Amino acid sequence: MPFSLTLRDFAEARARIAPHIKRTPLLGSRQLSERTGYDVKLKAELFQRVGSYKIRGPLNKFALMPEEEKRRGVVCSSAGNHAQGVALAAQIHGIRAVVCMAENATPAKVAATRGYGAEVVLHGTIWDEANEKAKELVREQGLTYVHPFDDAQLIAGQGTLGLEIVQDWPEVDAVVVPIGGGGLISGVSMAVKSFNPNIKVIGVESSDGPAMRRSLDAGALETIDCRTVIDGLRVRRVGEINFSVVQRFVDDIVTLPDREIFEAMLWTWERCKLVVEGAAAAPVAALLHGLVKLPEGSRVAAVLSGGNVNLDQLRGLTWN
Ligand SMILES: Cc1ncc(COP(=O)(O)O)c(C=O)c1O
Repeated sequence: MPFSLTLRDFAEARARIAPHIKRTPLLGSRQLSERTGYDVKLKAELFQRVGSYKIRGPLNKFALMPEEEKRRGVVCSSAGNHAQGVALAAQIHGIRAVVCMAENATPAKVAATRGYGAEVVLHGTIWDEANEKAKELVREQGLTYVHPFDDAQLIAGQGTLGLEIVQDWPEVDAVVVPIGGGGLISGVSMAVKSFNPNIKVIGVESSDGPAMRRSLDAGALETIDCRTVIDGLRVRRVGEINFSVVQRFVDDIVTLPDREIFEAMLWTWERCKLVVEGAAAAPVAALLHGLVKLPEGSRVAAVLSGGNVNLDQLRGLTWN
């Protein structure tokens, strides 16, 4: 039986994590509605704790973890949102967390992860090397590895975001979701389809690194040469569970270049007054460029998955 989750699984996951997260708002967007001819609402997950949906999955996973594993602790490798999600979720559950990052990780991200109580181990110059270090700690210290997307309990937690969308807007016709390794869309697609199988789910990737699109086209998992610089969308190979779920539950995947996604990021700041990060702007970019094809007037929810954007380049401004 291929992996799938029911509406009840998501309701249970949500009950488990609800005391520790915010219920983020679904905001109407007149600007995007006028541009597209749809009725567009934005799931403003940039207002989530740690600034992205990435706390949902680890919170669900740790709530289900046997005491013995909890006592040994957890480890992950990430310099981005996964690091902060794992760190805070572990702190909430009283679990020791180690986060491996490359030595050139942004000091602000190292500080944020430490601020949530995790031990940061700097190793190597790229993610793969930091990940090797994490695997070594699993072997040496018996820590449990927390995968950023290819994990059933993590997917159930991320999918609670989809459950909130259908609870707040039961008439929704389509949901547009960014894709990196495929954890978010795996959860969200199963959650909304288990509520109503007619809801369309559309994924968005950067055409500078479309690992899921390529795998779907090939009918098998492919490792690609990934050139996107958008943190969150940058993955050379998507997960196995993720690929299998996307094959069965996602209606379409559209792609557009980094440049257009960054333009959409600024558009969202300027027009919607929402400070989204690049990955979170991908659904907006797809809508602005007419890549999401639905009947006029369709009710569309775009997932603004996070807001952890590096604003250092703006610090020199002294007037407006
Ligand atoms: C803000 C944001 N959006 C979307 C994604 C993509 O999620 P996934 O890897 O679960 O597909 C990420 C992944 O890190 C992210 O940080």
